[in-house]
Amino acid sequence: MYTIDLKGKVGLVTGVVNKYSIALHIARKLHQAGMELYFTYANPDLKERVEEVIPEMNPLGLFECDVQKEDMVKGVFDEIKKKHDTIHTLVHSVAFAPREELGGSFVESTTRQGFLTALDVSSYSLISLTRQAAPLMKDGGSIIAMSYIASQVVIPGYNVMAIAKSALENIIRYLAYELGKNNIRVNGISAGPVNTLSARGIKGVTTMMQMYPQKAPLGRNITADEVGDAALFLLSPMSSAITGEVMFVDAGYHIVGM
Ligand SMILES: NC(=O)c1ccc[n+]([C@@H]2O[C@H](COP(=O)([O-])OP(=O)(O)OC[C@H]3O[C@@H](n4cnc5c(N)ncnc54)[C@H](O)[C@@H]3O)[C@@H](O)[C@H]2O)c1
Repeated sequence: MYTIDLKGKVGLVTGVVNKYSIALHIARKLHQAGMELYFTYANPDLKERVEEVIPEMNPLGLFECDVQKEDMVKGVFDEIKKKHDTIHTLVHSVAFAPREELGGSFVESTTRQGFLTALDVSSYSLISLTRQAAPLMKDGGSIIAMSYIASQVVIPGYNVMAIAKSALENIIRYLAYELGKNNIRVNGISAGPVNTLSARGIKGVTTMMQMYPQKAPLGRNITADEVGDAALFLLSPMSSAITGEVMFVDAGYHIVGM
């Protein structure tokens, strides 16, 4: 039997906010495989919530990191460097768009500021986090980011976040291209809908989850735990020849036209 053993590996997980967060389910799988983990939270108001859910993973550290602030992104890695000169994994699981940008008319409600914020938090942050993480990945590494099918097809209401996911997926490819020579792999997971805090900000997500089983070949919704399993695969040597890929974890939804 082949078991995934990540003992001796160190990772940074962004994007845990509560027990529903996809990042938490990914972190659990990594911890179960033996990886030691650092975590970040977006702002001081969220610290306690994150502290409630991560102790089971004996975290190496928990740092504030608003990804819109370059000094904070750098600061996280300065803190990590005090204890570890080498890390192996980065999990990017952050996204945000102002609520007014989501759910209405794309052409009427997409503002310049909303666009810049959504792409800054949800797409650019993968570049800035990777810029800091890559020099610490001295033995090679694996990075993943979370995407959604609206990067490729129209999901009404997802609006500016869809544009952010298109950018994110191309950023994944550019990073994979450049960092391959350092044996750093960069991949994405395009997940089906999961009931999380962020998902609840998207109008119509409940309806989407209700209709999903009718279209998805597997006849059901997916779980955050299943995203965690796919992430574990992409963050382990099991996927050593895979980079620049965006893998659907969506019960097959994306292959069906109607
Ligand atoms: N839930 C879904 O249906 C679904 C489907 C596909 C992809 N995704 C993606 O998965 C990722 C995780 O989302 P989730 O569904 O677990 O929701 P979540 O709300 O649990 O996680 C989103 C995280 O983004 C963080 N964040 C927002 N602004 C930030 C900032 N400025 N700096 C740092 N962190 C910030 C939040 O604090 C939160 O931890 C996102 O990229 C999301 O787009 C979610």
